[in-house]
Amino acid sequence: MSTIEYVKNFIKDPNIASITPTSQKGVREVCRKMDLSKKVVIVEYGPATGVFTNYLLKRITPDSIIIAVELNANFVDYLKNNVKDPRLKVHHDSAENIIDIVRSYGLEKVDYVLSGIPFSLLDEDTREDIVKRTSHMIKKSGKFLLYQTFFQKDEHLKVHLEDYFSKATDQYFLGNIPPLRLYEALK
Ligand SMILES: C[S@@+](CC[C@H](N)C(=O)[O-])C[C@H]1O[C@@H](n2cnc3c(N)ncnc32)[C@H](O)[C@@H]1O
Repeated sequence: MSTIEYVKNFIKDPNIASITPTSQKGVREVCRKMDLSKKVVIVEYGPATGVFTNYLLKRITPDSIIIAVELNANFVDYLKNNVKDPRLKVHHDSAENIIDIVRSYGLEKVDYVLSGIPFSLLDEDTREDIVKRTSHMIKKSGKFLLYQTFFQKDEHLKVHLEDYFSKATDQYFLGNIPPLRLYEALK
């Protein structure tokens, strides 16, 4: 998708939250926290044009899958038309429905959930619901990895990660414009 098209979507839809896709440096920094050498099931919330999706599809094993959950219909159409890989399953849906989406594949738990959805724009109950349901769907050895804007407050996300995961750490990452706040939550 061209930059102009992406910006047009951003102007129309406040849930997109970032005026440009995540930088390749940012994508690498988040994805290095996953072990992609073996079969994995990854759920991706908010793939948009697929910067993380395409990076991961080049690195996951042939029997791994990515379940992408995207709220914006234009991005869903874009992914379906432009990323032709049978390992990618695209859902036009909200992260809140993670449990039903994962179970529709006959799966109980997944290895990783990756998320760029803007928690600071969600209401308090939705933030907590998404973190709680995500935690429920991740394997014991799995991780919830999130990239957010650097000025995000702890009450928007970190407190919920601490409530529903055994360990939650965060770091600031300057290799993106604007800088990111990255979170890693362990089951
Ligand atoms: C900051 S953008 C991230 C886009 C892309 N992954 C990247 O790194 O450039 C956030 C994305 O989350 C999507 N989104 C927002 N709320 C969502 C929700 N509840 N469920 C699924 N996707 C959501 C938006 O439509 C948008 O595509």
